[in-house]
Amino acid sequence: MFRRNILITGGAGFIGSHVVRLFVNKYPEYHIVNLDKLTYAGNLANLKDVEKCPNYTFVKADIADLDKMRDIIKEYKIDGIIHLAAESHVDRSIKDPFTFARTNVMGTLSLLQAAREYWESLPDKYNDKLFYHISTDEVYGALELTSPEGIESPFSTAASSDHHKAYGEDFFVETTKYNPHSPYSASKAASDHFVRAYHDTYGMPTIVTNCSNNYGPYQFPEKLIPLFINNIRKRKPLPVYGKGENVRDWLFVEDHARAIDTIFHKGKVADTYNIGGFNEWKNIDIIHVIIKTVDRLLGNPEGYSDELITFVTDRAGHDLRYAIDSRKLQRELGWEPSLQFEEGIEKTVKWYLDNQEWMDNITSGNYEKYYEEMYSGR
Ligand code: NAD
Ligand code: DAU
Repeated sequence: MFRRNILITGGAGFIGSHVVRLFVNKYPEYHIVNLDKLTYAGNLANLKDVEKCPNYTFVKADIADLDKMRDIIKEYKIDGIIHLAAESHVDRSIKDPFTFARTNVMGTLSLLQAAREYWESLPDKYNDKLFYHISTDEVYGALELTSPEGIESPFSTAASSDHHKAYGEDFFVETTKYNPHSPYSASKAASDHFVRAYHDTYGMPTIVTNCSNNYGPYQFPEKLIPLFINNIRKRKPLPVYGKGENVRDWLFVEDHARAIDTIFHKGKVADTYNIGGFNEWKNIDIIHVIIKTVDRLLGNPEGYSDELITFVTDRAGHDLRYAIDSRKLQRELGWEPSLQFEEGIEKTVKWYLDNQEWMDNITSGNYEKYYEEMYSGR
């Protein structure tokens, strides 16, 4: 199947920038159009290495602007869409749910409608078209933590970590009922439903994937891993929500980008795939790994930054455990994570320490003020 003009939304963000880089480099025959509003989370510095490539175009636009979506999709004759643009941070959604509904729900709907109008106007209509929507495991809600000490993980992918633990017997599978708890996950769930409705109602070829927590270079430092790496470097407190007992399943971002590539080209239309690392960690354990790695790479004695750990008020409605079962993707399309967690976290910490200018550009000025307001009173 040949798709030539691909629209990637949210390409200036964390995951989007890795997807854009992969597609621009791997598919010189494709034209990659990166559409991004450049909110606080969008940063063209994430794409410096590809910005001059002849098969790459950047367009600044808001996905909730329906007329603009119509114009862009028509102008670039888009035949494939990989939709990542979203408001993505749970804490912000608790403070400002309306922005999440506007971008994640109305924005996705505008993009769907614009694609539908353009594709239905073509002689071959939906033939060889695809609307691929990137979603999250958070739409499934939270799992119980039935094995607080962790049990041997039932999965044995080559990339599973030495730590190799599962904190319960239950996992999110593609048929798990939606049960979102935060305004963020509720808005992502609504957008997933709209995507599936466009398939069922209008026959639009769609795919939805739900992925676990990503980590790696270029992540905005409001998220746990880059925030903590930066705070350790600056000797600032490390705010651990609640007791640090919540469990997340971590996947290296380039492995997510590889999965998106595989699914975009080989995935079954109207299907759903879960993407995850089989790599569950309690927050407090991952925090100790981060501290140890940063201290070692900075030449500090072991345990030097432990004193920065500060237990703070828990996140409202904090989901206890996420764990993705991605065996369907492994079985049907042959995807597996490529990196062991220990390798991935080493690479990640090194990247942030080697790219302090990138970090300092983001954390200076307005963001610093915002962050202090957001976290005052915790
Ligand atoms: P991010 O916040 O780093 O990037 C989001 C990007 O979307 C930014 O470049 C921003 O400028 C852009 N954007 C926001 N609102 C927009 C609008 N109205 N119009 C156009 N562009 C807009 O997010 P991320 O972590 O890279 O996540 C990308 C996608 O993947 C999201 O849909 C998110 O729900 C999903 N996801 C993220 C994770 C994760 O761990 N980060 C895991 C699973 C799924
Ligand atoms: O599961 C996929 C989701 O992962 C994505 O859909 C979201 O876009 C992405 O932000 C991420 O959500 P989380 O809420 O899990 O990620 P975050 O980095 O915000 O937090 C990870 C865990 O660490 C979570 O249990 C909350 C906790 N935490 C987070 C921060 C920022 C802290 O204890 N302290 C902190 O300062």
